[in-house]
Amino acid sequence: MQTTNSRSLHLLIQNLLSFVLSWYYNQRYRNLTLEPGVQIAGRIKLSGSVKVIIKSGTRLRKRNHFFGEGKIAIGSNCLLNGCSIGCYEQVEIADRCLISDCYILDTDYHNVDPTARHDSLSPSGVRPISIGQNVWVGTGARVLKGVNIGENSVVGLGCIVRRNVPANVVVIGNPERIVKHLQLQRSNILVEMP
Ligand SMILES: CC(C)(COP(=O)(O)OP(=O)(O)OC[C@H]1O[C@@H](n2cnc3c(N)ncnc32)[C@H](O)[C@@H]1OP(=O)(O)O)[C@@H](O)C(=O)NCCC(=O)NCCS
Repeated sequence: MQTTNSRSLHLLIQNLLSFVLSWYYNQRYRNLTLEPGVQIAGRIKLSGSVKVIIKSGTRLRKRNHFFGEGKIAIGSNCLLNGCSIGCYEQVEIADRCLISDCYILDTDYHNVDPTARHDSLSPSGVRPISIGQNVWVGTGARVLKGVNIGENSVVGLGCIVRRNVPANVVVIGNPERIVKHLQLQRSNILVEMP
């Protein structure tokens, strides 16, 4: 009984803190939209003119950094656990994703062409990123420009993703390679395929 009471109190304090922090961050960054119900138990930093929208039920832990000048859309009921997202065009993360302390960059920042290295970035150096529902991006992973990751897939720890990843697979390594195929059972639980 006491445990239930202290749990409820803890939850109440957490919700209250989240509410205050959401209000604070919405005031501090005019380009940030936190829908009601976003849970904040960490810090948010925006740099540049990037626009960020985070939907209801998403939880933010540790320090999450959003930078650049594009648009970042984070779905509902995700967990952002200390990620860095650099966006010059568009980064879309669908609902129920787990995004750990990884890097997601839709740009190269500088030109590969030696004669244009110090010029402003050419359009070929920027390509939008899209991450499907229920994707898990592991710690230390890097997702590079132009990548689409299909729903339910898992990006392993330290993986560098340079090309599209289909739905329902596990990828690891550099460059990414598929090591597992996952399949939905009728109960909607994902199981590994041999
Ligand atoms: C991606 C992951 C979840 C897959 O786990 P799993 O399904 O149990 O995978 P397995 O351990 O069976 O590994 C499959 C193969 O990939 C290799 N592998 C797995 N993860 C790897 C990684 N991150 N880097 C390199 N190789 C890896 C395994 O050695 C194995 O190779 P083998 O078949 O030659 O023996 C796990 O490997 C991982 O990266 N975990 C860390 C996730 C994380 O970052 N969590 C913290 C933040 S949320």
